Amino acid sequence: MRPRVHVAARVPAPVQAALERDFALEPEPVDLDGLVAIPSVRVDAAALDRAGPRLRIVASYAVGLDNVDLDAARERGIVVTNTPDVLTRATAEHTLALLLALRRRVAEGDRLLRRRRPWRLEPTFMLGRGLAGSTLGIVGAGRIGREVARLAEALGMRIVAAGRGDPLDAVLDADAVTLHCPLTVETRHLLDAGALARMGPDAVLVNTSRGAVVHEEALVDALRARTIAGAALDVFEDEPRVHPGLLELENVVLTPHLGSATQETREAMGMLCVEALRAVLLEDRPPPNAVA
Ligand code: GLV
Repeated sequence: MRPRVHVAARVPAPVQAALERDFALEPEPVDLDGLVAIPSVRVDAAALDRAGPRLRIVASYAVGLDNVDLDAARERGIVVTNTPDVLTRATAEHTLALLLALRRRVAEGDRLLRRRRPWRLEPTFMLGRGLAGSTLGIVGAGRIGREVARLAEALGMRIVAAGRGDPLDAVLDADAVTLHCPLTVETRHLLDAGALARMGPDAVLVNTSRGAVVHEEALVDALRARTIAGAALDVFEDEPRVHPGLLELENVVLTPHLGSATQETREAMGMLCVEALRAVLLEDRPPPNAVA
């Protein structure tokens, strides 16, 4: 009997083929040996219990694990794995894409043309800000934060970073602030009205971490009042909902949680999940990337 695995989302074809080779794929998340989760699926105590007493592994197709109740998994002796490293570059690239799009008004210019507005090249037309010579404040000094720093330095930015527990003052003084911390009880609403008020009127915020690290309502207020210059967001407090205030503002760039969304990265993430399932369910050995 092949182990029973439920996969909570569509996965790239090579990952699907690898899963089908070794596992019986179950349409419902019940009576399982293994579960492949994604960030939008809550894996709490109730979900673990629903999966049944045979469940041995939750392989999360993501690096962030805020959707998984790790304590509940530990109590039940269930291994949890994630997919670090393989998505670091893709997420860092997307962060830079958002920052460039915002600062150089890429999405705004695209919207202007699609609206068929008249325009003319003039010395004062649609001026943005270059990145070279500006400061980038990085919240979270982990793998992705460090990769963003490396890429941003290549573009001529100066880096100020804050790791866990560090004061945010210097980071919030930067020309652009980018978030790369996990969502935890400590980081929920880390960027609240008070923190946003500390940023300068020419500064921008980029978020490719988790929506709830930012107090979205306070961000909309700050953007409307122009106490900050703009925001580029890949993640939202209540996905897939996007705060309607964000949709109305020109000084905002939005993408639908695409940080790790490249073909090669999503395949690599999927293969790590398959490897973890194989380790636990077929080979009875500890999987790589076990977090609980
Ligand atoms: C995606 O959001 C991830 O955590 O990998």
